[in-house]
Amino acid sequence: MASPSPITVPAFAERKSSDQKLCMLTAYDFPTAELLDQSGVDAILVGDSLANVIQGRETTIPVTLDEIIYHAEIVCRAVKHALVVVDMPFLSYHTGIEQAIANAGRILKQTGCQAVKLEGNAGQAAIVSSLVDVGIPVMAHVGLRPQSIHQMGGYRVQRDRESLLRDAQAAQDAGAFAVVLECLPVEIAREITEQIRIPTIGIGAGNGCDGQVLVTHDMLGLSSGYTPRFVRQFANLRETARLAIEEYCQEVRTGKFPGNEQSYQ
Ligand code: KIV
Repeated sequence: MASPSPITVPAFAERKSSDQKLCMLTAYDFPTAELLDQSGVDAILVGDSLANVIQGRETTIPVTLDEIIYHAEIVCRAVKHALVVVDMPFLSYHTGIEQAIANAGRILKQTGCQAVKLEGNAGQAAIVSSLVDVGIPVMAHVGLRPQSIHQMGGYRVQRDRESLLRDAQAAQDAGAFAVVLECLPVEIAREITEQIRIPTIGIGAGNGCDGQVLVTHDMLGLSSGYTPRFVRQFANLRETARLAIEEYCQEVRTGKFPGNEQSYQ
């Protein structure tokens, strides 16, 4: 069977007007990216959530441009079909338009991804439009913005309807092709989705969005510690892996592994 053609930025954006919701998940390594791609996700996000799930950090603030490029290049080599979107790390797009273009350009050139994602309110619209002007597709991210966690005072549901509508509208007007809505009440997310022309991708924003994104480690039950309310664990791979590792140790210690099948004569 011929493999489906790669999903382009325009094709992703056009799904706004279809009744098939967009599915996006995160990946930071080759086997996970390959698995997601072969399982039919529409987009793969190399998120700065790698700070939490790969590096074991409390916040996404320490992630560097070099780190995200390292992971994104690996992911892009594994993906044949899905759109790959890469997060711009904290302070890689805030210190001037030229710097933002140079950094987003490095991400595109060195990884092979199709788009970048950046967190921002209406104040970041000029950055979005300058990236779009030079041909770099941008997915915006409004609502709870983990890179601004100290300013926002914690991982809380965002309820200021007017600013949320204004931020999403500003992202669209600046030329973003899609916008992530993180942690907002279902009715506000639905209203934004109805009012703007670009797809909304929700995380903790209810089912009125045009698509959904989750951190793969969370939805597969691989993460340890706190799980936000908006995560559904579709599997408990941590428990499956723990049982397998315990069995391995047991078999090694009792001399049952390796057996004849795993040995050369
Ligand atoms: O970094 C990330 O994984 C994200 C998603 C949670 C949207 O930004």
